[in-house]
Amino acid sequence: MTVGSSSVLVAGGTGYIGSFTTLALLEAGYKVVIIDSLYNSNEEVLNRIELLSGKRPLFYKGDITDEAALDKVFSENPDIDNVIHFAALKAVGESAEIPLEYYRVNVEGSIKLMRSMKKHNVTNIVFSSSATVYGDATRVPNMIPIPEHCPIGPTNTYGRTKSTVEAIITDFIEAERNNAAKKGEDGSKWNGALLRYFNPAGAHPSGIMGENPLGVPYNLLPLLAQVAVGKREKLMVFGDDYKSKDGTAIRDYIHVLDLAKGHLVALNYLRENAPGVKAWNLGSGRGSTVFDMIKAFSTSVGRDLPYQVVARRQGDVLDLTANPSLANKELQWKTELTLEDACEDLWRWTKNNPEGYLQQPPKEFVDK
Ligand code: NAD
Ligand code: WQD
Repeated sequence: MTVGSSSVLVAGGTGYIGSFTTLALLEAGYKVVIIDSLYNSNEEVLNRIELLSGKRPLFYKGDITDEAALDKVFSENPDIDNVIHFAALKAVGESAEIPLEYYRVNVEGSIKLMRSMKKHNVTNIVFSSSATVYGDATRVPNMIPIPEHCPIGPTNTYGRTKSTVEAIITDFIEAERNNAAKKGEDGSKWNGALLRYFNPAGAHPSGIMGENPLGVPYNLLPLLAQVAVGKREKLMVFGDDYKSKDGTAIRDYIHVLDLAKGHLVALNYLRENAPGVKAWNLGSGRGSTVFDMIKAFSTSVGRDLPYQVVARRQGDVLDLTANPSLANKELQWKTELTLEDACEDLWRWTKNNPEGYLQQPPKEFVDK
């Protein structure tokens, strides 16, 4: 794949997955422009990306719900020919409390992004979807591990914003292809990837880049990390009465470095194969229970971490394990790192940066 002078707009590029994908893109030779409102991230991550890659993405502080801001970024950077779209609100519980805000940012923001892409003739979009679009896959026989053809059926507002945007991208790309054909033009330059991630985890092995959620985390591993550094007394385990080997729920944890690579190969696939819109699962295919994760992270930390079993969390499902064979085959991508790697890397990041990006990177990096 020749990258040439190709440039990628990464919307939400200072966030957790966006920052790792930016690093992967820069390392692969792409130029990167980021737009991010910093709603859930910190500009310090740009320094960390530069420390690791020797390159700095161009950064615009801006909101994807502001179409004029998007137009400005595209106008000032005419070499952008691809978009990777991470910018969203992502807390499942909160989405039930303020659904209109979730639809405004996640759906309306995505529409504005696509409208601005169209105006500036930017024709490839890679979208952060989520395994949450499948909902409870056990409702359909033989759908665990979950393949892409599993019927979608999100069980929460956040998940419905994701499945809605998937549908909008699908309609948008198809329409642009048809519009081009009607004019006798080649519409195959319009392409979209819907990447359904399972449970992202881990940090950079250097220990200087990782997840830095502002506010209270709600995902399992960041919560366990808080227990390990004493910010939280114990982990609450949401239910031990599921039909799994130990009664706790099963998820497919994927190292964020593998996930970032998944974006790179999906973008390259769109550019090389012009497939229209395709959905791919990005997961490992390995299911782990909550107790497996407590054990794995405790091993990295070097001591047992306290927990207490409480009632199930509303909306949780038994099993979200990916069948990643489509991405394995078509993208020639598979996870290379394990959840044990993710635990090791998360612990290194947490130990080095208990306050996340609010503190300076370790001296040995600055002095390099
Ligand atoms: P994150 O919150 O770390 O990153 C999202 C970024 O988008 C943040 O930097 C935030 O400041 C920015 N942002 C939010 N609203 C914005 C707006 N209106 N305009 C511009 N920027 C805005 O989250 P993440 O974990 O990196 O997730 C990235 C994407 O992947 C999201 O779309 C999320 O829904 C999706 N996803 C995440 C997970 C997960 O568990 N982390 C799983 C599946 C899918
Ligand atoms: C993992 C497991 C919990 C916290 C969510 C979103 C999904 C995606 C990833 C964005 C579950 C259990 C958790 C705790 C626990 N995000 N748990 N105690 O719910 O699989 O997925 O994040 O797209 O859309 O729904 O991830 O990390 O919250 O939970 O026992 O304090 O850990 O019940 O089984 P989840 P999670």
